[in-house]
Amino acid sequence: MPPVSDQFLRPLRDLRISVTDRCNFRCPYCMPAEVFGPGHAFLRDPQLMSLGELTRIVRAFQALGVEKVRLTGGEPLLRQDVPDLVRALKQELGVKDVALTTNGWLLEKLAPALRAAGLDRLNVSVDSLDDATAGKLNGLGFKVSRVLRGIDAAAALGFPIKINCVVQRGVNEAELPALCAYFRERGHTVRFIEFMDVGNTNHWSQDRVVPAREIVATIGARWPLEPVGPAYRGEVAARYRYVDGRGEIGLISSVTEPFCRDCHRARLSADGKLYTCLFASLGWDLLGAVRSRGFSDADLEAFVRRIWQGRMDRYSDERAEIIAAGESRAKIEMSYIGG
Ligand code: GTP
Ligand code: 5AD
Ligand code: SF4
Ligand code: SF4
Repeated sequence: MPPVSDQFLRPLRDLRISVTDRCNFRCPYCMPAEVFGPGHAFLRDPQLMSLGELTRIVRAFQALGVEKVRLTGGEPLLRQDVPDLVRALKQELGVKDVALTTNGWLLEKLAPALRAAGLDRLNVSVDSLDDATAGKLNGLGFKVSRVLRGIDAAAALGFPIKINCVVQRGVNEAELPALCAYFRERGHTVRFIEFMDVGNTNHWSQDRVVPAREIVATIGARWPLEPVGPAYRGEVAARYRYVDGRGEIGLISSVTEPFCRDCHRARLSADGKLYTCLFASLGWDLLGAVRSRGFSDADLEAFVRRIWQGRMDRYSDERAEIIAAGESRAKIEMSYIGG
């Protein structure tokens, strides 16, 4: 029996922690520059969870079954104390799997410190290998070559690396074989992500989603593929292996083949609110509770337990009905909750 289950009997296994809501990129599908401009109010330092607060909160989640922690942002490497946080998670708390999702811009510089701190693995976003397209997709004209150097540096240190690529119709869909060819050579799995309707400002439309099965057909026509079972129960990506033995790809098909039934992920925003779904509109203020006087570790564990027990989220399963009914729900922004 897992220590806690939600209303659909889903246990709590993974915790995704956004350590900052800031990012040095302005990808239009996540933080469009016209919305996240100079006037945007980001969280201020005192609003962020400190290292001590974070370790205390993670300990409560461990007691409830969490074995995997992923650090996200915004861009997590903008936060100076990320290596210290990794060290605390691995050495002090003994979290089995500590991973980090990054845009790679600062990776070349920070990979050694992350390795020394004990980080287990990295997921790096690469939507295009072409500087002009990549520059459009990060909103600021930044060259992808620097990200690729960061990936090489991290791989040379021994990090297992997966590449995240958000696919958009008419934007980067023609580049998928080139991405596969490049990363196959280097032994990294590419995961193609269907463009999602996260947040409220990214101009999502169904026409811009390239269905995962179409991506598999395109790649499979060039290099035959066969399905592989999940690496772990509730894995987000569906995996396919190249029949020639040269590695694999993954498909994250939240739109056309939702995976809510096995969703074991809790999300913490940088200001310490607990969200039970990527598409939730309300979070529970764990940090506020932790900062209130007399709130013990046992109280914290009981608070999280109650929240998880009441959880009923399955947004991606319901998306089609919600859209068909013309409903529009307020959602949190991806950069705030970390994807
Ligand atoms: P692994 O531990 O390597 O399997 O990582 P992951 O795929 O869980 O994490 P990553 O941060 O690399 O996420 C890749 C993509 O999957 C991002 O676009 C996430 O937003 C999306 N994703 C992850 N978890 C969920 C989820 O629970 N629901 C939805 N809809 N998308 C998710
Ligand atoms: N749809 C799909 N994936 C997205 N990401 C950011 N915004 C979206 C979106 N609208 C991806 C990033 C990163 C991961 C954490 O989430 O590219 O790889
Ligand atoms: Fe930054 Fe990642 Fe969002 Fe792009 S997708 S703006 S890199 S947080
Ligand atoms: Fe989990 Fe919500 Fe994503 Fe469904 S939509 S998989 S419940 S985070």
